[in-house]
Amino acid sequence: MDLLEQIRKRAQMLQMRIVLAEGTELRTLLATEICIHENLAKIILLGNFQSIHEIAVREGINIQGAEIIDPRTSSKREQYAQIMVEIRRNKGLTIEDALESLNDPLVFGPLMIKAGDADGEIAGAINATGDVLRPALQYVKTLPGVTVVSGVFFMLFKDKSIGENGILVFADCAVMPDPDERQLAEIAVTTAKTARSIANIEPRIAMLSFSTKGSAQHPLVNKVINATRIARELAPELMIDGEMQLDAALNMEIGQLKAPGSSVAGKANILVFPGLESANIGYKLVQRLAGAQAIGPILQGMAAPINDLSRGCSVSDIVNMVAITATQAE
Ligand code: ACO
Repeated sequence: MDLLEQIRKRAQMLQMRIVLAEGTELRTLLATEICIHENLAKIILLGNFQSIHEIAVREGINIQGAEIIDPRTSSKREQYAQIMVEIRRNKGLTIEDALESLNDPLVFGPLMIKAGDADGEIAGAINATGDVLRPALQYVKTLPGVTVVSGVFFMLFKDKSIGENGILVFADCAVMPDPDERQLAEIAVTTAKTARSIANIEPRIAMLSFSTKGSAQHPLVNKVINATRIARELAPELMIDGEMQLDAALNMEIGQLKAPGSSVAGKANILVFPGLESANIGYKLVQRLAGAQAIGPILQGMAAPINDLSRGCSVSDIVNMVAITATQAE
């Protein structure tokens, strides 16, 4: 059974309540029909009841079984506004401002989770990453002990000799534009947990750089060296090594040559990039040129799963993300 099949099977067992915040978006409705048909989750669509139904009828989409909630008329508005003010009183948020913000499904969704009315949320088919993430970061916040939310891709290769049985995990491809060394270390440790929980991968983490074991000197190299040291302090049990170039991380011969004795070089299954630029470009290069299937971004470190879609996402991307979000909520 491949990774996505395993994830779907787990989601079917879990029956989590997943909010699709862009309820009037066509691909979202098509995905809703599939999710209900495949029994992947209890789907909650946000948006105007009549608009959602009009689109469904016009397009011949069966969304029976999905709950529809209109953030503008929901009976929960007062309760959610109180929660918002409690969390952001020190930022000057008033009840009136909170009620106004709740008209936005991207705010309403995270508040449903915060209030215990949903288990996870997905948006981003028509909204920018920042707009999806900001309310999630402000109200759902991070897991205890985590300060940085980040995003990973599971890169799936036909060639099973790559990474872990054809899977490489890339981080952080989605959130932190320029992590400092402590944040980079946290990203590595959190990614190890995600790799274990989603794909049962025993992590071997390469902290990537343009230098391997001192071959170049530069402040950017020092950042990765220090991040590796901090990650080891945070999680001494992890197999983690760096700083390391990509070829040393993945190719056994080059790894042994450039980083002799390393427990990771040549056999890494998690690649932690030094910043968002290299990570985001890197995963797209591998997806477009090597033909790998890119599953993600899967956001990690948040107190409850909220995932961001690409605006170019397909219906099956949304279905997969529903299943992934459900398993993260476990
Ligand atoms: N982890 C945890 N909390 C965070 C993080 C983070 N990574 N980033 C911001 N926050 C918190 C802040 O502390 C702040 O909390 P507060 O309001 O309670 O004080 C809140 O979130 C908002 O932070 P701001 O800095 O005001 O928000 P900003 O406008 O910078 O947005 C964001 C943060 C959205 C994550 C921003 O860093 C961003 O846009 N990142 C890039 C996203 C992106 O474009 N990715 C590439 C596309 S995705 C793809 O191609 C797969």
